Amino acid sequence: MAQAKIIDGRAIAARLREGVAAAAAGLSERHGIVPGLAAIIVGDDPASQIYVRNKARACGAVGLASFEHVLPAGASEADVLAVVHALDVDERVDGVLVQLPLPVHIDARKIVAAIDPAKDVDGFHPFNIGRLWGGETTLVPCTPQGCMIMLRATLPSLAGAEAVVLGRSHIVGRPLAALLIAADCTVTLVHSKSRKIPAICRRADILIAATGEPAMVKADWIKSGATVIDVGTNRIVAPDGVRLVGDVDFAAAREIAGAITPVPGGAGPMTIACLLQNTVLAACRRRGLADPPQFAA
Ligand code: GUN
Repeated sequence: MAQAKIIDGRAIAARLREGVAAAAAGLSERHGIVPGLAAIIVGDDPASQIYVRNKARACGAVGLASFEHVLPAGASEADVLAVVHALDVDERVDGVLVQLPLPVHIDARKIVAAIDPAKDVDGFHPFNIGRLWGGETTLVPCTPQGCMIMLRATLPSLAGAEAVVLGRSHIVGRPLAALLIAADCTVTLVHSKSRKIPAICRRADILIAATGEPAMVKADWIKSGATVIDVGTNRIVAPDGVRLVGDVDFAAAREIAGAITPVPGGAGPMTIACLLQNTVLAACRRRGLADPPQFAA
């Protein structure tokens, strides 16, 4: 069989960002609105700081405003809640994002529940999770949304496909399962206590790995011609230096799969593009405006 088609997340994300820029320009011209995204970061985790900096840069490039709130690692739950409450009522802010993980002394669920659901661009608020599982229109978590857009760009139809999701995290696995159900897939969610994982994976027309285990998915877990989405971004120390690898053994898997995302350059760039899109959606919906036509996914 021929090598798998590479699903180019960078190129798809670039098209999404063009749509966001066009929508933002339209909102500015017609309504004088500049959608704004606020990120809260607690502590000095270098990876989180890089993510938040990248988000600010991405906002600027498409004409969105960005606001950054950095709190010290020792900030109390009340300190973080005070910032969330201020952003909830700030008219310049359409999206509020609290960078996770938070320091262990802060209850992340309490913080996320304090975000106005209309500004919850991560889609993590219990209200939005409920709407997602109910199959209703809502703000959808960004990484799962990015996976769905890549699947739709790759496959003519998702209806009836066997989809297997590896990993049951609140950020990726669970919301992705809800989205695949809404897309009429037959969905299996595999986790650390699942049995016969390779055999379950071999059934998959669509296999999505989000475990955080470097190269966990082997070539013989993959059905010939399957579409494989790799959400993993694992930093490993190799003889030639530090490398980013996914949850899938990419070199071997591309000999079996029909289409596969690379790491980096697959799911990663899509996440931030979806965050920008959610910020514009929040800006429109909060004001009772229609969703931008560019966003038909
Ligand atoms: N940490 C890792 N991924 C995410 C994400 O999608 N959103 C937030 N807020 N924090 C994260």
